[in-house]
Amino acid sequence: RRRRRRPVRVYMDGCFDMMHYGHCNALRQARALGDELVVGVVSDDEITANKGPPVTPLHERMIMVAAVKWVDEVIPDAPYAITEEFMNKLFNKYNIDYIIHGDDPCLLPDGTDAYALAKKAGRYKQIKRTEGVSSTDIVGRMLLCVRERSTGDSHNHSSLQRQFSHGHGQKVDDGGSASGTRISHFLPTSRRIVQFSNGKGPGPDARIIYIDGAFDLFHAGHVEILRKARELGDFLLVGIHTDQTVSATRGAHRPIMNLHERSLSVLACRYVDEVIIGAPWEVSKDMITTFNISLVVHGTIAENMDFLKKRNEKKEASERKYYEGKTYMSGD
Ligand code: CTP
Repeated sequence: RRRRRRPVRVYMDGCFDMMHYGHCNALRQARALGDELVVGVVSDDEITANKGPPVTPLHERMIMVAAVKWVDEVIPDAPYAITEEFMNKLFNKYNIDYIIHGDDPCLLPDGTDAYALAKKAGRYKQIKRTEGVSSTDIVGRMLLCVRERSTGDSHNHSSLQRQFSHGHGQKVDDGGSASGTRISHFLPTSRRIVQFSNGKGPGPDARIIYIDGAFDLFHAGHVEILRKARELGDFLLVGIHTDQTVSATRGAHRPIMNLHERSLSVLACRYVDEVIIGAPWEVSKDMITTFNISLVVHGTIAENMDFLKKRNEKKEASERKYYEGKTYMSGD
């Protein structure tokens, strides 16, 4: 990269309601069109006026966007449509070079294009919208699982196929085999995983922290716990439980997002260095050795703690501290 030139600053705005990996992928592509990415998060009122009330309030949406590793700055209360006035503010106050949006049409209630002015000014660039995921789709999956729970029809369960649920975590008793419920249209490719990865392993003396969980419907509580975990060391390895493990421990209707979707959301988080796509429920000695883990921060099963405490008595205090944090997260 040339050092002397001014960094190219790009702007992406959006609602980022019920943030998912499609949003993360949009931010990743936007960032690749410049050197610095500024994100405008639309205010609750503006969303309500243009497409109905958001599920997650502005402060949570801000946390989610700021946690994405490709984001450099976040502006709260962005307008839904880019007005002349706001565009000038972007250019003059925020030094923005380009305004970016996905290739889906973004229309205002009156049918006009929300990015018309930016396009006219020649400062608009487009990224490819991610197929297979949207807030609407996620809500649909949630509704489907509510319906299934109330009918309890296991025939229907087995006829509905969830993708990518095979081949992982076979150790878990699949008593919850009625879990093949949700249909994801997401096709994870190795390239997508590479795009989301950091590509850097831990340094030779790194203090490696391990945390595992379902991380279903990745939310502000998850971000907070990952931030705290990362602070305890130099490298944060996150184990994502298999779909079977999640179903077996949280009920057949979970997870809503499949293993690969959950892995991408966690990978996009700036506090995360690496993920294990399909982590075992038990943190074995082998795993600790293999990954050179210094500290396991964990809270879902008490049995593991005895082992962990024995292994690392000095770290007891921080484990306790972590436990309290975990309560916050496991409320989901
Ligand atoms: N976006 C994307 N792929 C998706 C969903 C959103 O690339 N599957 C992009 C949008 O094009 C936009 C940015 O993410 O540039 C912010 O999206 P948001 O304003 O939240 O838009 P929606 O399109 O409403 O997203 P969703 O339908 O998932 O709520």
